Amino acid sequence: CGIVGYVGHRPALDVVLGGLRRMEYRGYDSAGVAVLDGAGRLTVERKAGQLANLEAELDAVGRDGFAGTAGMGHTRWATHGAPVDRNSHPHRDATERVAVVHNGIIENFAALRAELEAAGVELSSDTDTETAAHLIARAYAEGDTAGDLPASVRAVCRRLEGAFTLVVTHADRPDLIVAARRSSPLVVGVGAGETFVASDVAAFIEHTREAVELGQDQLVVITRDGYTVTDFAGEPAQGRPFTVDWDLSAAEKGGHEYFMLKEIEEQPDALANTLRGHFDGSGIVLDEQRLADQDLRDVDKVFVVACGSAYHSGLVAKYAIEHWTRLPVEVELASEFRYRDPVLDRDTLVVAVSQSGETADTLEAVRHAREQKARVLAVCNTNGAQIPRESDAVLYTHAGPEIGVASTKAFLAQIAANYLVGLALAQARGTKYPDEVAREFAELEAMPAAVRKVLSTTEQVRDLGRRIADSKAVLFLGRHVGFPVALEGALKLKELAYMHAEGFAAGELKHGPIALIEDGLPVVVVMPSPKGRGVLHAKLVSNISEIQARGARTIVIAEEGDDRVRPFADELVEIPAVPTLLQPLVSTVPLQVLAAEIARTRGYDVDKPRNLAKSVTVE
Ligand code: G6P
Repeated sequence: CGIVGYVGHRPALDVVLGGLRRMEYRGYDSAGVAVLDGAGRLTVERKAGQLANLEAELDAVGRDGFAGTAGMGHTRWATHGAPVDRNSHPHRDATERVAVVHNGIIENFAALRAELEAAGVELSSDTDTETAAHLIARAYAEGDTAGDLPASVRAVCRRLEGAFTLVVTHADRPDLIVAARRSSPLVVGVGAGETFVASDVAAFIEHTREAVELGQDQLVVITRDGYTVTDFAGEPAQGRPFTVDWDLSAAEKGGHEYFMLKEIEEQPDALANTLRGHFDGSGIVLDEQRLADQDLRDVDKVFVVACGSAYHSGLVAKYAIEHWTRLPVEVELASEFRYRDPVLDRDTLVVAVSQSGETADTLEAVRHAREQKARVLAVCNTNGAQIPRESDAVLYTHAGPEIGVASTKAFLAQIAANYLVGLALAQARGTKYPDEVAREFAELEAMPAAVRKVLSTTEQVRDLGRRIADSKAVLFLGRHVGFPVALEGALKLKELAYMHAEGFAAGELKHGPIALIEDGLPVVVVMPSPKGRGVLHAKLVSNISEIQARGARTIVIAEEGDDRVRPFADELVEIPAVPTLLQPLVSTVPLQVLAAEIARTRGYDVDKPRNLAKSVTVE
């Protein structure tokens, strides 16, 4: 989501709408604004859909009611609650004196909601955010924080779990806005006689370039004269001041040249957000579950159906789901599945994986599966899209909006979500004890840090990309979970750099592809860990030596400290050691960077490759 707050001397509505326009790429499920006038009035308007819908609504109701020089706004990427008007931000308490916009996921919102309901509060939306509005209003109304908005927000922040960046206004206090950060980004913009707060600098860069980044668990109070930072306990704290030297277009991309490069860097967060809230201490929880537990226990076969990168996420997950559940898993391209008369019945679980949730082939595969009485579980990045709506259960990947046409962060999030599906099945079927599920989940939770580490190889990989950018073709080899990673690496290169690229199972090399090897041909090899599956490692080392002997230029993605492969690597990219099944979450990252850099070097638009669309709604 994108959030913005403003206190200053200009009409707040204009400033806030301008900021939202700059941040629309952060979410386009809904948009909303709140403006405070000096006379204690708080006026809110919000609307599902793109920002243009809100602007049309404001034109219809008239903008006169929005006079005031303090206000805030939000563009939403739905997490809790479908993208409809009543779930749009800002959210207010029952007295409509407090308004809150939020970016993130409040994990303990169910408990907070129950507490509010028990106290007689009626909630008017399905969001986690609304609970924060009620709690802040109550803290402001009574007790030791009464009448003190910053203290009330701090008190509530101490009770919230999960990820939240909040911007809060109170009709009594048109002179200030309070914002708090845990996890999702928050920056203050310092102007002359005006102060801004936003999820990224793009929101205020036309007005000021002086910015202050808030740290974790910090709270800021902005007034027209400046800002004050504290921690959640109220102790004074410091943000990190910086001057923005990007132009507007780079600012939207977090200083990157392309959204895709920004999205590659967002992968640790995309993973952390996808895992967040899906383990409740005793087991895996799905987001929407319209199936009986018995239905999950009865599953005797799994199909994963998807297209493009989502299909590759299924190929990766097959290894884990079969291993954990002992269920046969077939992974199929949605466009083939439907016309093939697959064997389906009520004990078949079809996992439909789709970032957009609207890919026509995948949607039709879901419909076909349901006609055949199979159960359908959707793994989707878009709340309320058609595929999750037509499914029996849903697990959302909380990767946030993905703008680059070629999938990156959504792909990593899909792998993680597919793994959660595997663990949910294993726990339902009893093939894994609760403590084993907890252990696997903990290993997944360590992955954002591992991905962060692999991102430190970015500059090295970009340099390599520039050096091989004029190759005719690139081959990718992998084994076990490294095989679908090789397919994904090749797909990225085809999509972005319009280069001939193929992924192969390394063991198949000698059955054909080795004939393609010629002098100087770059071959990217995804090495398994020398520890886990030592046999595979040795086999791949001999594959590499075979192709190197035939003149290939070997580019090896290997675990750090893998000395045995070193002599065969013309180029070596080291990735952190992680459990075998989780390696795709790290080994894919350099391949994404490589494809993007080769495309850049060849002068192509990385975000909008020719002939491709982000979501393909025709068969
Ligand atoms: C398009 C995109 C791919 C994506 C595929 C599936 O081809 O270019 O990046 O993987 O669709 O999209 P979905 O939204 O169903 O995941």
